[in-house]
Amino acid sequence: MLKFCIAIISLLVSTGLLAATGERSDPESVLAGKKLYVQYCQACHQKDGVGEKPIPAFLAQPGYLTAMPLNETSHAWHHTDEQIIHTIMNGLKRTKRMPAWQGVINEQQAGQLLAYLKSLWSDRILGCQGPKHMSCM
Ligand code: HEC
Repeated sequence: MLKFCIAIISLLVSTGLLAATGERSDPESVLAGKKLYVQYCQACHQKDGVGEKPIPAFLAQPGYLTAMPLNETSHAWHHTDEQIIHTIMNGLKRTKRMPAWQGVINEQQAGQLLAYLKSLWSDRILGCQGPKHMSCM
């Protein structure tokens, strides 16, 4: 499975569909990603990735987590490109609210979604993406 993921990611990088961690993607990918975002992600992560408003604790089901911002105000940018793609495709163990999108979108589309998310970050934040965030700020 790991080999398969590496092969797919190498393919995306080599075809230019995926820029590396800390780099901007091409405008076509950003535009395609924005359309996918509106269709699949915006209901929770909200327009422009600003995230959901928390709901009062007494109304929340056990294990309920609000969908955090994906713009630069939260910490999506602490993760590398590969980690974000992995989260999109496989979902998060800590909450069923962030589902695995595998089967709904393909790897190429996950790369386009990533391109869009990165377009929401300033140059300064993008330059600090991934492990660099520890020493960058
Ligand atoms: C049903 C609501 C819902 C939908 C739809 C949804 N998410 Fe999420 N997402 C969440 C929740 C809840 C979390 C986790 C919040 C937490 O851990 O505090 C999350 C977390 C994430 C994270 C991790 C961010 C981080 O900082 O670690 C990424 C990346 C993400 N979502 C991307 C997406 C993308 C891309 C889509 C569309 C394909 C999407 N989500 C659709 C609810 C949703």
